[in-house]
Amino acid sequence: MPTLTVNGEHHEVAAPPDTMLLYVLRNDLGLTGTRFGCGVGLCGACTVLVEGRPVHSCDAPLWSVEGKAVTTVEGLGQPDRPHPLQRAVIDEQAAQCGYCLSGILVRAAALLATNPRPDADDVRTALDGNLCRCGVHNRVVRAVLRASEVTP
Ligand code: FES
Ligand code: FES
Repeated sequence: MPTLTVNGEHHEVAAPPDTMLLYVLRNDLGLTGTRFGCGVGLCGACTVLVEGRPVHSCDAPLWSVEGKAVTTVEGLGQPDRPHPLQRAVIDEQAAQCGYCLSGILVRAAALLATNPRPDADDVRTALDGNLCRCGVHNRVVRAVLRASEVTP
């Protein structure tokens, strides 16, 4: 049975190895924070981290993440202990429908892990592949910069 580690927890799942990670997360593990957008690797809504790197989970078969550490938006923080990015998104009111945000948050977390003090252009470049049909981009950039001020 395929095994994977998500947000620090080890799981065995019954899904076939060629099942896309997005469906495993949502349907087998109940982690519905990761969203289905385009389903073909173009919108970024389904982004998760695999070994700290952003990956489109709609385009990543289960076999490709076996034995690797997957982080979803649920693994960044929780309502009682939000990640600085989650706190900053709230403070900047950087959401309308919120559908794009889980992918944006994990990709921004990967950015801050490698570049703790990005400038606005760094943030825009990093998030270039994460589409938002509500148009919250400028607020998201401000939120990531705000979070970078409190990220160690
Ligand atoms: S749903 Fe995966 S990139 Fe759009
Ligand atoms: S806030 Fe609605 S898609 Fe981004």
